[in-house]
Amino acid sequence: MMDLKKLNDIANRMVAPGKGILAADESTGSIAKRLDSISTPNTEENRRDYREMMFSAKEAMSNYISGVILFDETIRQKAKDGTPLVEMIARTGAVPGIKLDKGPKPLPFAPGEVITEGLDGLPARVEEYVKLGAGFAKWRAVIDIGKHIPTYNCINANTMTLARYAAICQEGGLVPIVEPEVLMDGDHDIDTCMRITEWVLKEQFHQLHYAGVKLEGMILKPNMVIAGKKAARQASPEEVAEKTLIVLKRCVPAAVPGIAFLSGGQSSLDATRHLHLMNAAGPLPWRLTYSYGRALQADALKTWGGKPGNLAAGQKAFAHRARMNALATGGKWSDKAEAA
Ligand code: 13P
Repeated sequence: MMDLKKLNDIANRMVAPGKGILAADESTGSIAKRLDSISTPNTEENRRDYREMMFSAKEAMSNYISGVILFDETIRQKAKDGTPLVEMIARTGAVPGIKLDKGPKPLPFAPGEVITEGLDGLPARVEEYVKLGAGFAKWRAVIDIGKHIPTYNCINANTMTLARYAAICQEGGLVPIVEPEVLMDGDHDIDTCMRITEWVLKEQFHQLHYAGVKLEGMILKPNMVIAGKKAARQASPEEVAEKTLIVLKRCVPAAVPGIAFLSGGQSSLDATRHLHLMNAAGPLPWRLTYSYGRALQADALKTWGGKPGNLAAGQKAFAHRARMNALATGGKWSDKAEAA
């Protein structure tokens, strides 16, 4: 039997005022790229050491991080001193979470489009992760913008899959993070991103309804409305904030406890500034926070550099970035705070 009160409590903890989510669920292939950028071999031990550096950063974790998304390997790993990493996270007050999707695969009859896999056997996996200490889960769908794409086929398949995942999570006791990501990789303008994001989110909430998902027990993880990286004209931060809020207000029911953005390739500073501007434009019907991967980790990764001697410096860099984003959740971030 689903316990909606419990799911709602977890969801509210995940979007608690002044806190946000650390997305540290890079698959072994994605973390390889991060470690490669600091010339560190992609071994199980190095992956553990890197993540342990963040999870043991007391200041950042206990003050600014409400939840941590983990990859399957990490949720089973132990810190150097033998403490399970999940326990280390839980001790800081943050909720451990798990990435449940198995990544995007080519979508049949849809050139250039993908569908996220991982539904088969999902109820049993949910049961195991609950036992391992997870309180929530994440599933990411990928919608690319290009010539003649996205198609309805792609949006329908991915939003339906996300809704089925979310329903399975809620039945099994995990709060689903629903992440239909419209990529910012193309050369499209901000208004194209706005139109597609609105379409995707409209479809998403229809599908969640048909699947019986209870909105009070989920978190939405959307992209911001932003021009493609290769677009000739980049929109101003104010325009990104304004258009993102317009779309979210049109599409996301107030019953959803919170929205936690992905950073998606924005610079760390842009991701903070955009979040700040949106929260400064409140009051809003839902809590608006971060679930950043790259935008929370980039500085910490570079500062740590794979060297044990840089542990404290890496943690300090992580704490600074987390604190800036925490300020942004209250609309209280500034260039001055950034420089301090
Ligand atoms: P980014 O913030 O790096 O986009 O990662 C967040 C995430 O979890 C993507 O699925």
